[in-house]
Amino acid sequence: MADPSPPNQIVIFGASGDLTRRKLIPALAALEGRELDEADFSVLGVARREKSDESFRAELAIDVPEELRPAYHRLAPRIHYQAADASDVDSMRALGARLDELPGGPDAGRLFYLSLKPDLFGPTVEALAECGLLAMREQETQSWRRVVIEKPFGRDLESARALNEHLHRWLREDQIYRIDHYLGKETVQNLLGLRFHNAIFEPLWNRHHVELVQITVAEDIGVERGRGGYYDDTGALRDMLQNHMLQVLSLVAMEPPASLAPEAVRSQKVELLRALRCADPQHVDEISVRARYGAGANGEAAYVDEEGVAFGSQTETFIAVRAEIDNWRWSGVPFLLRHGKRMAKRFTEVQVQFRTPPIQLFNRPDGLSADEYHRRLREGSLCEIRPNVLTVSLQPREAIRLSFGVKQPGASMVMAPAALDFDYREHFGKAPADAYERLLLDALHGDQTLFLRGDEIEASWRYADEVLEGWQGGPAPPLLEYPAGSWGPSEADALFHGCEGGWSRG
Ligand code: BG6
Repeated sequence: MADPSPPNQIVIFGASGDLTRRKLIPALAALEGRELDEADFSVLGVARREKSDESFRAELAIDVPEELRPAYHRLAPRIHYQAADASDVDSMRALGARLDELPGGPDAGRLFYLSLKPDLFGPTVEALAECGLLAMREQETQSWRRVVIEKPFGRDLESARALNEHLHRWLREDQIYRIDHYLGKETVQNLLGLRFHNAIFEPLWNRHHVELVQITVAEDIGVERGRGGYYDDTGALRDMLQNHMLQVLSLVAMEPPASLAPEAVRSQKVELLRALRCADPQHVDEISVRARYGAGANGEAAYVDEEGVAFGSQTETFIAVRAEIDNWRWSGVPFLLRHGKRMAKRFTEVQVQFRTPPIQLFNRPDGLSADEYHRRLREGSLCEIRPNVLTVSLQPREAIRLSFGVKQPGASMVMAPAALDFDYREHFGKAPADAYERLLLDALHGDQTLFLRGDEIEASWRYADEVLEGWQGGPAPPLLEYPAGSWGPSEADALFHGCEGGWSRG
């Protein structure tokens, strides 16, 4: 019988940070006793400040949710701490020595999770490599070395390329796990399941039947405490659109992969991102709207008054774009993407709006002209026949709804809106797991499907950069203001031009 694998070691750089406390440790606690146990892994937290294993464990315990406490108590003895600094070779060597002492020692598979400021990604990988900590024995399945890189990966195409090149000096692409936590969300993954397991949708999933696609990530929170400086330097486009939203878009619009193998899926996503039409910097004002929140009716502070926001800031907290995909499937179909902080409600949703029948047989009184009919629909004096819409709600409710028209009971042929509904929690009797659980598990198992490939990141920066360039030069769209707690600027409605419908309100 083959020897059992030694336990893996998860090394978290940035161990004192928010992400470690709020996401990574709770995710590991949730996996403890379910998918993973003592035989599988131990954790080493790394940060600059000196502290003992005990005080680190006690610090982490504070943010562990009540229901995960028993699991955390089982896990805690396997959590350790080591002070180290990538710019100090001795401390990195000491880190290596400590890892050799932990269960599994040098034979353990090691997952280095860099939850660090982006300018430390490159130097930390370099320091790890120079201390021999990334050396992988070829063909070795046990003592693997993998590095997880948190977002943001670059702040434009050029810096993302430079970071990719830097990482490739020390690591093979199959050792690099660029994370986008949206891909760990169950319902985001379900976009693939919905599209490619159910033959009924695929024939409709193209320009012949789809009028437009909307993707909304609306947040009710503003800039969280302590994030003002980072956010002000980043903005909504870089913080959400370039990564999470383009990832969702690529899953909605990509071609079917030949298999679920990581490279098959990722290659189709890259193809799709490359087919995104780049904005003409001279006309970027026609396809994008940017804004920031002002004070709200319930006393919410304006963005410019948030802690850490620079005087004279021109950073957007809201972005809407009308994207187009230049391929056979989607040519001419607008993809409307919208994200904002401090909006009226928190929800993330994809809406696929299908074309209406070519002739309107129902609900249109005899002799009414098309213009008059549409006017009355808009003002609500006629019962609207809603177009067929497939809504995939990603959060806070995980659900799928297909809406269509049915005949109202009675003598006359009047159609009313109806829907088929699926709710994840109701159906499966439990809430989906947190994204980090799935992603940590996949990284430990060496499955890169839900992590971004280098060329994928570059393809999405190429698109984001064109919009940013347009904003900085040419006829840039003005930086509008919307009241905190509202639906964002009404100017974003204009992006629907030529299509029926309006922005979803969740
Ligand atoms: C992060 C952004 O990547 O995603 C935050 O930096 C944002 O600004 C967060 O609030 C949203 O994630 P979720 O999972 O709450 O939708």
